[in-house]
Amino acid sequence: MTAKTVKLTTEGGEIPLPLLEGSVGPDVVDIRKFYADTGKFTYDPGFTSTASCQSAITYIDGDDGILLHRGYPIDQLAEKSNFMEVAYLLLHGDLPKQKELDEFSYTISRHTMLHEQLATFYRGFRRDAHPMAIMCGVVGALSAFYHDSTDITDPQQRLIASHRLIAKMPTIAAMAFKYSIGQPFLYPQNNLSYTGNFLRMTFGVPAETYDVNPIIEKAMDRIFVLHADHEQNASTSTVRLAGSSGANPFACIAAGIACLWGPAHGGANEAALNMLREIGDVKRIPEYIARAKDKNDPFRLMGFGHRVYKNYDPRAKVMQQTAEEVLKELKLTDPVLDVARELEHIALNDAYFIDKKLYPNVDFYSGVILNAIGFPTEMFTALFALARTVGWVAQWNEMISDPEQKIGRPRQLYVGATQRDYVPVKER
Ligand code: ACO
Repeated sequence: MTAKTVKLTTEGGEIPLPLLEGSVGPDVVDIRKFYADTGKFTYDPGFTSTASCQSAITYIDGDDGILLHRGYPIDQLAEKSNFMEVAYLLLHGDLPKQKELDEFSYTISRHTMLHEQLATFYRGFRRDAHPMAIMCGVVGALSAFYHDSTDITDPQQRLIASHRLIAKMPTIAAMAFKYSIGQPFLYPQNNLSYTGNFLRMTFGVPAETYDVNPIIEKAMDRIFVLHADHEQNASTSTVRLAGSSGANPFACIAAGIACLWGPAHGGANEAALNMLREIGDVKRIPEYIARAKDKNDPFRLMGFGHRVYKNYDPRAKVMQQTAEEVLKELKLTDPVLDVARELEHIALNDAYFIDKKLYPNVDFYSGVILNAIGFPTEMFTALFALARTVGWVAQWNEMISDPEQKIGRPRQLYVGATQRDYVPVKER
């Protein structure tokens, strides 16, 4: 790529390390031969300074609050594009021509049904199971149903597995919701859009015709666009790591769902709305700001802060605007939105948040919209998983096609006991 190097001074002298240049963003010091050359490892828990792969899918500049998918800014995609088009873009690298988009949408719509036997899986869960628990289980179980798309060395089989995952996620998520409220599952209806179909499977009932509200459909689709990919975040890295061993694609995505569930990651949207509800009144905001700043209190402002963004998360801006639009169009008022606006205002003017560069992230306002649409908080992260599946499969495909990719196998700084002899139990 480049002949540039950086020099590392060690007790054995200077070691030149190749410097790799991406198309944009920080250069990367190539340490692949570092252990072989020095007998030393590098140490970076949480990967705060380490690039785990090369990727051409998504670019983030956290300092300037920029997010690009295949070069296109997220705000342009959120405003002008739609989820099917963004899915194609992430998977294939360029925006589709009309014919390509039509074919892609048609293909996805022809994979929306689940194997009928999968419906029986749901009955094994308690009715109060968290939808993410169901999603992990059912998506993992797809491995047992689609044996014709699991040869990961075959690009065509990888594409079919990717289409299946993108297509079936709305069905799986909607069924998780239906199961929790004791309503019958609805089969997909393929004359509807990807998002309209999901809304119908979620909120429709067999006894009535469900008319998709175009305003809700557009807001929901935009939420999917905003969550579609986010380069090497925890769940995507989990999918890549699981996939690096050659594991079954459906099992890899189930691993991603498990990781996404955590409150420091995708689970934050649920936690953020719960927090806003708990605050309840703008008068109580100072109390919660004080708690967030107290080192002895584990409380954090959910939906605030990000590993990469040290500026406003560009997705949060669109999300806030969408929240205002949806509430206005549905003629709803929600005191939670007032609390969110005021909390944001106070936090962004507080030295603690300014100094630590803590800004609202994508999850801060999404809960307000999803709540207005009618989703219970437990479903929020499942919706995130539905949308992020596109990013996961795009990143997984990219990894498998990369000839330089090896099995992911981090090293460690061992701090445990050194070698010692076994002592029989009676002598301890
Ligand atoms: N509220 C209060 N203080 C915070 C917050 C917050 N939300 N986030 C970070 N801080 C403080 C930390 O206490 C820490 O302070 P210190 O330096 O005095 O110890 C400092 O800011 C840096 O925080 P770290 O946890 O070291 O930063 P990291 O990059 O590891 O964490 C994370 C990022 C996990 C997102 C964090 O900001 C957080 O927990 N936020 C709340 C959860 C959330 O909204 N997650 C969603 C992320 S977006 C997504 O996954 C889609």
